[in-house]
Amino acid sequence: MVTVLQTENLEKNYMLGNIPVHALRGVNLEVAEGDFVAILGPSGSGKSTLLNLLGALDTPSAGSVRIGNSDVSVLNDSELALLRRRIGIVFQFFNLVSRLTARENVELPLSIANFPRSKRREIAEDLLEMVGLKDRMTHKPSELSGGERQRVAIARALASKPQFLLMDEPTGNIDSKTAKELMTLVKDLNTKHGMTIVMVTHDRTMAKYATRVLELLDGQIKKEACN
Ligand SMILES: Nc1ncnc2c1ncn2[C@@H]1O[C@H](COP(=O)(O)OP(=O)(O)OP(=O)(O)O)[C@@H](O)[C@H]1O
Ligand SMILES: [Mg+2]
Repeated sequence: MVTVLQTENLEKNYMLGNIPVHALRGVNLEVAEGDFVAILGPSGSGKSTLLNLLGALDTPSAGSVRIGNSDVSVLNDSELALLRRRIGIVFQFFNLVSRLTARENVELPLSIANFPRSKRREIAEDLLEMVGLKDRMTHKPSELSGGERQRVAIARALASKPQFLLMDEPTGNIDSKTAKELMTLVKDLNTKHGMTIVMVTHDRTMAKYATRVLELLDGQIKKEACN
């Protein structure tokens, strides 16, 4: 078993004025290559906080996050930037660039990584085809449905060949039928392409697509179930 992600006694405190908020209170989590983990929990339980720490987008107050063989806390800025390129993140609100087409949005991380134009285009077109958007490549986000936008966001997250995919409420802003279609796609990424996935959600029906389900409550993992 290859461990891709590991947290040890992970804590995160925020200050709200001068009142401390204990968002995570000692989370121990290990994700192996090929896992599809759902983190289920009510609003405010710390799901996004945990996901941001797993994506090296934020720093812990205590405890540690290991990504592959690296302890995130000892990396310098350029090492962190390199590491982040290999992490795919999909957020609830898509975060697409509105003036760019679907294809240009998917190409964006590849431009940043200095891929030549023709290669960028080829990778973006392949990925958009894979997520079922072959005939939507030149649409801007405003010309796409919520489910289509989320597919573009997934294609963009996959463009840099990430070691794993983190998803924060990927179905939070789409209707339930579209959500099921999207989850079928996500499930296929895991089963057919071996992608390691950590998805946070407050929706039990979405968690059913995962192979492991963790329940987060008040910043702690309360239990783990296997689907
Ligand atoms: N930047 C911040 N400053 C202060 N408190 C914060 C901050 N971000 C989150 N919190 C608090 O930390 C706790 C966990 O928040 P988090 O966003 O991780 O919850 P969540 O499980 O993702 O909730 P939701 O399902 O509503 O997205 C909450 O009590 C929240 O109010
Ligand atoms: Mg959240």
